[in-house]
Amino acid sequence: MALTIAPSILSADFARLGEHVTEALEAGARRIHVDIMDGQFVPNLTMGPQHVAALRPLADRYGAILEAHLMIVEPDRFLGDFRAADTDVIEVHVEACPHLHRTTQAIRALGASPAVGLNPATPLGTLDEILPDLDQVLLMSVNPGFGGQAFIPGSLDKIRRLRHTLAERGLDHIAIEVDGGVNLDTIGAVAEAGATIAVAGNALFAAGCAVSEAWLRLTTAAAAGS
Ligand code: DX5
Ligand code: ZN
Repeated sequence: MALTIAPSILSADFARLGEHVTEALEAGARRIHVDIMDGQFVPNLTMGPQHVAALRPLADRYGAILEAHLMIVEPDRFLGDFRAADTDVIEVHVEACPHLHRTTQAIRALGASPAVGLNPATPLGTLDEILPDLDQVLLMSVNPGFGGQAFIPGSLDKIRRLRHTLAERGLDHIAIEVDGGVNLDTIGAVAEAGATIAVAGNALFAAGCAVSEAWLRLTTAAAAGS
């Protein structure tokens, strides 16, 4: 299964965010991952809908999707703001949503695509009832909050089990996105386990080489694993 790489701008140079994202788009990226953190759900503060809005014209020039990964409590309060910023995919965490069905319905009603994220310790079974309503599942392969953390090896089995469940239930159209610690050492196994999208932050924007070079290495390693 071909793996799409979604650059996480959390690791980009914020002083030249547009240029850095342009480098990723020029290299071939067509899905940009925007990490939203509130200092409550996760111990870090990052961006808001205004960052999605600022990147929208740039993404449109390349026909790219913008996805907002909401690592925040009470995400329902901000769904309208993210949609107003023209976010294509809105990702909420199962751990932050007591009324997950209502939240995912609200995302769809706003005209965005609903995705649900799971922390590493959250079982796949929490998605049993909601799976058919989703377009994408986000499996965290690190504890959310920071870029540049090490990939949790047990995540590979979780990807495999989700891939199996989706096949069994005839839901193979649902994307499996893997987020955290994806790099040259792990991306092949992530692809091989059955992921469809891999988020890459440090491995792309802080790899010690040009973004285009990092992109080429990552896509080559992903292809070797898929
Ligand atoms: C972590 C974020 C990730 C992060 C990934 O909480 O959700 O998207 O930016 O960064 P890397 O790829 O460096 O692990
Ligand atoms: Zn993320």
